Amino acid sequence: MCGIVGYIGEKKAQPILINGLLALEYRGYDSAGIATIEDNKIQVKKDKGRVNNLYNLEGIQDLNGTIGIAHTRWATHGKPSMENAHPHMDNSNTFAVVHNGIIENYHELRDFLMQNGYTFLSETDTEVIPNLIHYHFEHNVLENNDKFLYAVKSAVNQLKGSYAIEVISSLYPDRIVVVRKDSPLVIGKSNGENYIASDIPAILPYTKDFYFLDDNEFAVIYQNKTEFYDASLVKHNKAIKNIDWDANAAGKDGFEDYMLKEIFEQPTAIRETVGSRFHLGEKCTFEDLNLSKEYLQNIHRIYIVACGTAMNAGLVGKPVFEKLCKIPVEVNIASEFRYQDPLIDENTLCIYISQSGETADTIAALKLAKAKNAKTIAISNVIGSSITREADYSIYTHAGPEIAVASTKAYTSQVVLVTMLAIYFAEQLDRCDTNTIEELKENILDLPTKVETLLQNVNEIKRFAKKVYTQKDMFFLGRGNDYSVALEGSLKLKEISYIHSEAYAAGELKHGPIALIENGVTVIGIITNPDLVEKSISNLQEVITRGARTLVITNQSLPNTHFDFVINIPETHPLLSPILSIIPLQLLAYYISKNKGLDVDKPRNLAKSVTVE
Ligand code: G6P
Repeated sequence: MCGIVGYIGEKKAQPILINGLLALEYRGYDSAGIATIEDNKIQVKKDKGRVNNLYNLEGIQDLNGTIGIAHTRWATHGKPSMENAHPHMDNSNTFAVVHNGIIENYHELRDFLMQNGYTFLSETDTEVIPNLIHYHFEHNVLENNDKFLYAVKSAVNQLKGSYAIEVISSLYPDRIVVVRKDSPLVIGKSNGENYIASDIPAILPYTKDFYFLDDNEFAVIYQNKTEFYDASLVKHNKAIKNIDWDANAAGKDGFEDYMLKEIFEQPTAIRETVGSRFHLGEKCTFEDLNLSKEYLQNIHRIYIVACGTAMNAGLVGKPVFEKLCKIPVEVNIASEFRYQDPLIDENTLCIYISQSGETADTIAALKLAKAKNAKTIAISNVIGSSITREADYSIYTHAGPEIAVASTKAYTSQVVLVTMLAIYFAEQLDRCDTNTIEELKENILDLPTKVETLLQNVNEIKRFAKKVYTQKDMFFLGRGNDYSVALEGSLKLKEISYIHSEAYAAGELKHGPIALIENGVTVIGIITNPDLVEKSISNLQEVITRGARTLVITNQSLPNTHFDFVINIPETHPLLSPILSIIPLQLLAYYISKNKGLDVDKPRNLAKSVTVE
């Protein structure tokens, strides 16, 4: 989705802004632009297409201003075009604005502005913002240094929807005004210069000290200082947070694509996520979770709520909680949950999983549970992200920055963390025998090495990908946990190869989808549950009989069957098998996409973090 970058300091802003936009390319976008100020004049360069296209625009190298704002746009209102790209200016060219989010009442605001003589050059919702700022600036009685900020505030008061906004003005070339609501914005502090971004990786090479702007909070950013104001423009101090992500971790590190790099980072990501939270023979610790035993005993239902891959990680967590803690768990899609009036009271625990911590639907679903007095736990990869600031408690995966749109290391880290959370609850509740828990812990600690082993053997998957990459449809089958992995494997394939794929609970095949099986159709079976091996084999046999080509991912010794390909994965505790069985499926999606010559990291139409509904 849209990305924001900003800079104010002594250096030429243009290269910093362009580099920031390049670092945000992974979010998905279709046009890009920048604005700087020089000699009290705003200069804007923008166009549809990639940041490289912007970089090659005539005159861009001549932008010498040391203050600037920049944007990558993912089209919502109006097609990708030069006119619709940000920054947008007001009619008098005094204010330039970049905006992430959606202004829901922009029709009404546009009418209001048109009645007041304003004209519009684009089809966007954003263009009302600079003009509203100009309107309030003109009608503002204040004649002091804060007039610019007051005009922004008056304009923002009229906006309905979500926004992260950066504004510069030719009349105030020493400052950038920013404000947010339901869309992330961070300010990076450095020596004699300040940076702004919607996502940390854009400015990670320059600083590790960040301010995370809150909803309805304004900041005025100068070269040497940043001032923070609440919604009524009362000034306050704000604590800075140090984020110890390695800037190189956001690079490709010799890999061809971010996705491949991130797949190979999984052993480290899992190790870091386990961290020092548990040791064999000792109880698991979650220092940040301050939940009493009495509270845990009274929980009668857990909701796990998330979107996309994070929701698939939640599905794997469900049986772990149910088995170890004997608490019923429902896993929900956030965009559904938020409108379903779910049964929530103070004895319901709601767990939200979000890699970015910025997914609009997941945040809204969290607010709903809070309003109904349930306790909320956020599981995120990004310290200080919106969701972690809303939740009662936050725990973190330590997967490092995930850049590729298709989530890989975040998924496996989320599954590990949810499992550890369930173990922690089980130990507090004493509802599970120690042997089971110790066995699970041993197996968790062995996971990184097992993933390493899997990653040393990618040839068979490469071979299979070469055979099937021209297919139009694929099916993923599994039972229990293997079905949850089928869903995630199928999602990966769709996301980056554009092959239509469906995941089915293997036993459900006969109730419809088997009608689609014909000669040469590819079916991928996942078989890791020792109790269900025969049943799953029978289901695959049914598709083989109808001419399907089959790949099986398994850690069981299967009887002599007629599968075309078999990928053997290491054994582990059945509750943990998804962490291993997903690896070949991530690689399969990756190699199929490569064979098709597609952009693996930035698949069409998708965005890394979905900050609109
Ligand atoms: C987008 C991404 C997915 C991700 C989902 C949820 O659709 O493309 O990879 O799983 O959002 O994102 P979150 O940051 O909340 O985990």
